[in-house]
Amino acid sequence: MTMREKIEDAAARYPDQRSAIMPALLIAQKEHGHLPGPVLEEVADILGVERIWVYELATFYTLFHTEPVGMFHLQLCDNVSCMLCGSEALLTHLEMALGIKKGDTTPDRLFTLSTVECLGACEMAPVMQVGDDYHGDLDPGRIDAILERLRAEAGQAIGADLAAASPGE
Ligand code: FES
Repeated sequence: MTMREKIEDAAARYPDQRSAIMPALLIAQKEHGHLPGPVLEEVADILGVERIWVYELATFYTLFHTEPVGMFHLQLCDNVSCMLCGSEALLTHLEMALGIKKGDTTPDRLFTLSTVECLGACEMAPVMQVGDDYHGDLDPGRIDAILERLRAEAGQAIGADLAAASPGE
């Protein structure tokens, strides 16, 4: 299925095409990795809605990325509950461990580091979202373990890609 077909399929479930912008953006982001201007315009054209409506949603919600992000997007909550439970120190720890500052992507494009508003999981503060997964009750040790696991995952994915690119070797 093409991106257009997927978006049209999703949009058919909504009585109002404006309501389908969120699912359409999720589909487009999955397809392209992020949402640059031309992709946002394509989404608006497919749905037949105002481009500004699509831009507004894509730039308001932290789950949408208008700029390229790394293979793993680390989104650390820095809202009140998480801040009171030490998110500031965890941000410093992440910056040191990754060698980048908040908002940056590592040179190997594995990690992008961001801070976000409340993730709605305050009961397990401090919390970080990585892709669709939430990690709570974080401390520096747990952060290190998460980074190690993600690096291993990336290594496996890259290894699988190389094997697929050179079959029979
Ligand atoms: S304040 Fe961090 S999840 Fe709510």
